[in-house]
Amino acid sequence: MKTIKVGIAGVRGLSTMKGFQAIDDVEIAAMCDLNEEHLNEAADKLGVEKRYRVFDDMMESDIDAVVIATPMQCHVPQVIAALEAGKHVMSEVTAGVTMDELFWLCETVEKYKKVYMYAENYIYAPQVQLVKALVNAGFFGDTYYAEGMYMHNTSNLLVYPDGKTSWRTYWQDGVRGNFYPTHSIGPVMQWFPGDRITEITTFSPGVRHPYGVKQDSGTTTMCRTEKGNLLNIRTDCTSPHPHNMDYYHLQGTKGCYRSKTNDKDWHRVSFIGEDSPSHAMQWKALEEFNDYLPERFKTATQDQKNAGHGGGDFFIVKDFVDAVRGDVPPAIDVYTACEWTAVGLLSGISVTNHSKTLEVPRFRPAMPLEEKKIPL
Ligand SMILES: NC(=O)c1ccc[n+]([C@@H]2O[C@H](COP(=O)([O-])OP(=O)(O)OC[C@H]3O[C@@H](n4cnc5c(N)ncnc54)[C@H](O)[C@@H]3O)[C@@H](O)[C@H]2O)c1
Repeated sequence: MKTIKVGIAGVRGLSTMKGFQAIDDVEIAAMCDLNEEHLNEAADKLGVEKRYRVFDDMMESDIDAVVIATPMQCHVPQVIAALEAGKHVMSEVTAGVTMDELFWLCETVEKYKKVYMYAENYIYAPQVQLVKALVNAGFFGDTYYAEGMYMHNTSNLLVYPDGKTSWRTYWQDGVRGNFYPTHSIGPVMQWFPGDRITEITTFSPGVRHPYGVKQDSGTTTMCRTEKGNLLNIRTDCTSPHPHNMDYYHLQGTKGCYRSKTNDKDWHRVSFIGEDSPSHAMQWKALEEFNDYLPERFKTATQDQKNAGHGGGDFFIVKDFVDAVRGDVPPAIDVYTACEWTAVGLLSGISVTNHSKTLEVPRFRPAMPLEEKKIPL
């Protein structure tokens, strides 16, 4: 089998390192980072010779695929450059920073016909996959409501240790609304098969924090789906609160799930049954249902588990490599990436306009020009 040569842009891309190293016939062949010190540190770790400060220079090399893990505002320009250079792409979150960028992204992926996969890694957490399997097996009945919450105070990341202003000051905390929605939306959308988000409304208590940036003191975005389901997405990167970046809740007609909120807590489910009638529901540990985990999680090798998150960090990379080899479509394609990212971009408009409800475009192949807009 032909070896797939991969380049990595941005040090955060090292999170894929163990995953790639655990797959035969894949070589991490090049590394790119604007910061020379970061570049050499990362490339030494990877043992790669080909090192680039300028992304476009790496695109002239013989790599087949690239992981883009640079700051958010670099994603779309770099994805476009990579696709034009004939490379397959796995892009970090979020997909883009403006609605126009999302439309360009879809157009470019369609034009160059290379793989674009969105690296929404939170979907690959074993508990998210297990709940998905239980949804598919009918345990929850008809699922109709979910919550996803991302609490991560990033005030220490607004300025780099060397005193330079970080991109986060502008592209995250420098905007209103939910700038980082997909770690919450991605997992919960796994539990609504065949559904998509059609409209959103965002609420916020305004700016209550002392950091001197525009970002809200948390936002709550209510999302309505095509099938009439309701999602409640809370993101807060400024309030004083212990980190809790992967809290989820799911409700269906026959049962519910609540994720753990800290290391002493446990993932729990409750289903209607003889010992658990609907008026007196009892919790059970989610792990009692581990038999339903997808087979590949149950049989993950030590190498695969070592990649991180019970094998999740391996499987996301494996899905990308399988798509590059042409075996399967990308697990999270460009249209899904744009839908989830658009929720965040539209939330900024909603929250600054009295929580106006906004329609989410239906991202799909050959989307007509008249739909590439923000309807008010
Ligand atoms: N999926 C996750 O769990 C997760 C976690 C953290 C960050 N992220 C995402 O990863 C990305 C990077 O975040 P971070 O925390 O590593 O940021 P960071 O600021 O710590 O690091 C960014 C790196 O990219 C380099 N860089 C900047 N512009 C570049 C360019 N044009 N070309 C090449 N290199 C460039 C910088 O020198 C720096 O080393 C962001 O998109 C963020 O949203 C995802």
